[in-house]
Amino acid sequence: MKPRIFVTRSLPKKVMVRLEEDFEVIGNPYDRSLSKTEIITGMKGCRILLCLLNDIIDRDVIESNPELVGISNYAVGYNNIDLKAASERNIYVTNTPGVLTETTADLTWALLMAIARRIVEADSFARAGKFKGWAPMLMLGNDIFGKTLGIIGTGRIGAAVARRSLGFKMELLYHDKIENSSLISESNARYVALSELIKRSDFITLHLPLTSETQDLIGETEFELMKNTACLINTSRGKIIDEIALVHALRKAKIAGAALDVFYNEPAITEELINLPNVVLSPHIGSASIETRTKMGLLAARNARDIIMGKNPQAIVNPEVLSK
Ligand code: GLV
Ligand code: GLV
Repeated sequence: MKPRIFVTRSLPKKVMVRLEEDFEVIGNPYDRSLSKTEIITGMKGCRILLCLLNDIIDRDVIESNPELVGISNYAVGYNNIDLKAASERNIYVTNTPGVLTETTADLTWALLMAIARRIVEADSFARAGKFKGWAPMLMLGNDIFGKTLGIIGTGRIGAAVARRSLGFKMELLYHDKIENSSLISESNARYVALSELIKRSDFITLHLPLTSETQDLIGETEFELMKNTACLINTSRGKIIDEIALVHALRKAKIAGAALDVFYNEPAITEELINLPNVVLSPHIGSASIETRTKMGLLAARNARDIIMGKNPQAIVNPEVLSK
């Protein structure tokens, strides 16, 4: 008999077929996210839980199932999982690094360009029949080339964003917990203190995991330091920006704009953001390309398979369980 896996939401077909090779797949019959109770009920008797970044896998969920040996997260970020509770029970937790790096860097640039050149506003304007002829002052935005790009967090995604800036001949500043020498040699980026990056950048982009250290990293003090022509881009996690402070900064023109793929209380979006013209919003689609969502699923399936076969999974995020 094949071991059971609970998959909290249908994934691309190719992924479901792959999972069925190794597992009896228990799925979510609805086209929506499941509640905590539904996850607990659904995963009864399953050895692996394959979940999404918006499924909160806390201690209650983890401890509800004594048969659980692995949690395969369909995401690179894993702030949705109580790692401590999982490690205490020797439950492997895995993620999907690498496969979504370039796709997320692409979206970061799409948002950066959209906010700089007012693409979303311009699109609405054109659709509303307001285009009455070329005009010298129509929809003036900001240049991107030659400007200063500040990258906060230079893991895989931050580095991929840096690489893309070369064609724009930008000055590149970055900040992270540690200096990243390969980034410096690849893209001439300069390591600076966070406050210097914030003061000097025309575009600031965040590529950090959400942890207790990074929550609310960008708040009132940081907005005060930014240039009033600066734009902030976030494709990492919403809670890294104090969203209320962001609204105030935009309202008082302390910064020029923001482009956000992630939100503090996702899927809820602070109402004021929706009403501001100098904001571009997207619904957490950083990794949302056809190719990448399949690759993420195949990696999540591979992680699940490795765990069940007793092999060390490729993408483990709590390696402390390996030595137990
Ligand atoms: C997306 O946000 C991810 O963490 O994969
Ligand atoms: C995530 O994949 C990162 O390292 O940026």
